[in-house]
Amino acid sequence: MQIVILDNAAEVARYGADVFIRQIDRKPDSVLGLATGSTPLALYRRLIAACKNGDISFARVCSFNLDEYLGLAGDHPQSYRHFMNTQLFEHIDIDLRNTHIPPGDAADPIQACSDYDKLIEARGGIDIQLLGIGRNGHIGFNEPSSGLRSRTRIKTLTEATIKDNARFFSAREFQPHLSITMGIGTIMEARKVVLLATGAAKAKAIKAAAEGPLSASCPASALQMHGNALLIIDEAAAAGLERRAFYKHVERENQKLLQSLDKT
Ligand code: F6R
Repeated sequence: MQIVILDNAAEVARYGADVFIRQIDRKPDSVLGLATGSTPLALYRRLIAACKNGDISFARVCSFNLDEYLGLAGDHPQSYRHFMNTQLFEHIDIDLRNTHIPPGDAADPIQACSDYDKLIEARGGIDIQLLGIGRNGHIGFNEPSSGLRSRTRIKTLTEATIKDNARFFSAREFQPHLSITMGIGTIMEARKVVLLATGAAKAKAIKAAAEGPLSASCPASALQMHGNALLIIDEAAAAGLERRAFYKHVERENQKLLQSLDKT
């Protein structure tokens, strides 16, 4: 697990966006795994700018989002489909037919879950998966106690997650308590995983994910078993890490190595 600690949330977005820009540059038909929530918004704004500047094109890119609320159709303003359309897809040159989000209004949601995994496989698997992290360590909507090899399926949200996400819903609005989410096993199959975390509220979850035991109590700790996981976090989210100084030292050494390789 590579851990990059940066000064603030803006730096996290810049670093994370550069990773995605390099990926698309290297492989224009990349399969991207995408996330919703507050954390990736600044990264998406940077991808939009890069696309508008002509630095990258999403014309051949295909995407799969992590999750969707069960019971919300894509045109519902609180659906993750609506979020992705308005925060990213409508501002870049991606073909909407190549963007995939679990269907929250599927007539047969159980079937829809296995269809989603099959579609990811049919598109060659995810090249790079973007993740945020819940305060309770969830990734996607894989709440604590989720099976570490789970597949895309229906998950009940915890009280904590419902409370955290209530900020997106108005007082009288129906807030779903169920979701369709990629499983931890599905996420682990992505060839590269990039998790972003910013702010002090994420410090406990980051500590458990990076330095805690591998445990379903912290679903993000499964990433310790991933061969190519990158955590990009700000100082506030890194505050609880025991080996914080070491991770910073490793990153400085990595940068030096990359620079020396550039020179050759
Ligand atoms: C979103 C998702 C969630 C969020 C997490 C953090 O698609 O799957 O796991 O990444 O809840 O949300 P924010 O970024 O709003 O703190």
